[in-house]
Amino acid sequence: MLSEMSRTALWQLPPHQELLITERLSPPNKHYRFQALTAEQKKELSDLAKRIVADGKGILAADKSVGTMGNCLQRIKVENTEENRCQFREILFSVDKSINQSIGGVILFHETLYQKDSQGKWFRDILKEKGIVVGIKLDQGAAPLAGTNQETTIQGLDGLSQCCAQYKKDGADFGKWRAVLKIADQCPSNLAIQENANALARYASICQQNGLVPIVEPEVIPDGDHDIEHCQYVSEKVLAAVYKALNDHHVYLEGTLLKPNMVTAGHACTKKYTPEQVAMATVTTLHRTVPAAVPGICFLSGGMSEEDATLNLNAINLCPLPKPWKLSFSYGQALQASALDAWRGKAANKKATQEAFVKRAQANNQETKGQYVHSGTSSSASSQSLFTPCYTY
Ligand code: 13P
Repeated sequence: MLSEMSRTALWQLPPHQELLITERLSPPNKHYRFQALTAEQKKELSDLAKRIVADGKGILAADKSVGTMGNCLQRIKVENTEENRCQFREILFSVDKSINQSIGGVILFHETLYQKDSQGKWFRDILKEKGIVVGIKLDQGAAPLAGTNQETTIQGLDGLSQCCAQYKKDGADFGKWRAVLKIADQCPSNLAIQENANALARYASICQQNGLVPIVEPEVIPDGDHDIEHCQYVSEKVLAAVYKALNDHHVYLEGTLLKPNMVTAGHACTKKYTPEQVAMATVTTLHRTVPAAVPGICFLSGGMSEEDATLNLNAINLCPLPKPWKLSFSYGQALQASALDAWRGKAANKKATQEAFVKRAQANNQETKGQYVHSGTSSSASSQSLFTPCYTY
């Protein structure tokens, strides 16, 4: 029996030590003796995750692969060269330090982690000096699942541990792995849900072993004409499978972040929904499937316009359901579309590009607090749909 004093002491322990205490209280259990992570490893992961989604902060996903970045550059008639990709990213990363009020983490692509600015300074050091946590895209793209309606799994588990160890040495503190599920005839199949959930969990476990916070991204893509209820049904099934797999793989939830789709109707659905309807469907889904131990949920923008992504997340943060996690953003397209449009490959447009980027980052800072007020004067770039069919990253 525990004395009253030791009972009180129990409650004062930091969360990362709870497991050890429970272990002492539990009857001997042979599975339980194999700890996946030490208390120090857990503390490092949970501190990093909390820093990334600290009040008002979200993530800039600047990790488009070479091909996907090429599509963006093509739209503004800029050639897809390493130099041009580097120049655009230098403009974003060299904005004033106050960007750290809105951006807690930046996800980089392999190429960008090893690039320097025009003064010869590593991008990763520029970000770290601003207090921004550096992340790295770790998945290696999709591979077909034979015998399904063109569904996929994600590659990149082979050699992942060595990659993570190297990236950690080179300054990364979190990782990203995007799994794609689609809504269509017979989709998502149980095979696609289970396979992607297991790959995400395996990736998350490997990241944590190497000191990287895993961003777990099971994206239900918006392709199709399904309604919001259908998206909610599928998103619940997918997330429930992901959290079962994370638990099976002994992943420490406090040291993870979730990056899901918002629950919306398909891009081709004729029925339109308000931000409040999107918010209610999204928070209901998360409330039913995501444990409260997860510190933050950072939504992807999934082809929404910059303005819609902001308005929807603002409504999500105002939704009256219980919300035990930080609800924030990890936008790629919806943080860079206006900036790309302002840049158009010209150094002379640097100031306008930075202003466009900062404006979106600040709007998203407001939305994480449910305080965004739409000015009614959006630029055409910010209100334009960014939907790309079967989007790859
Ligand atoms: P969006 O461009 O849809 O916001 O996605 C960001 C991302 O990182 C996808 O993996």
